[in-house]
Amino acid sequence: MKWTLLSLSLALLIAIGCSSSGDGKKAENATPNESSYAKVQAVLDKSCVGCHGEKNPKGGIDLRNHEVVMKGGEEGAIVVAGDPAKSVLVKALKGIDGVKKMPLRGEPLTEEQIKLIEAWIQDGAKS
Ligand code: HEC
Repeated sequence: MKWTLLSLSLALLIAIGCSSSGDGKKAENATPNESSYAKVQAVLDKSCVGCHGEKNPKGGIDLRNHEVVMKGGEEGAIVVAGDPAKSVLVKALKGIDGVKKMPLRGEPLTEEQIKLIEAWIQDGAKS
């Protein structure tokens, strides 16, 4: 008897949980369709321009706007449009292929932020 009651209330709880998390939320969580550059720049502004900005940008890499991001640094371009796997920018965010993990200090980017940047490059790295 106790168990039936318990499982019944459990089922009820689950039902309530499901119905309340439906609808509404979907639009908010939708993946960035056009992978707009504005969102990419917002991430760079927050996590990177402290070291890759106007004053003495590290590695000669300025990340303040689309034009300079596409230009890259002393070692050349860091974005290969259409090919995130070849882009040093992505390698740096993941810390792979011998590229130092960025940001060098501070909070690493979230999986979502990295995916956003990869999607933007995949889509042609447009401004
Ligand atoms: C605390 C300072 C700091 C922050 C924050 C930072 N960087 Fe860097 N970054 C550096 C330094 C220093 C270098 C040069 C490293 C070297 O040459 O050894 C560098 C180099 C790089 C390079 C070139 C790597 C290579 O091997 O060619 C890329 C790409 C890069 N940063 C991207 C980013 C991105 C994207 C962010 C933000 C997510 C970021 N950095 C945040 C300090 C920083």
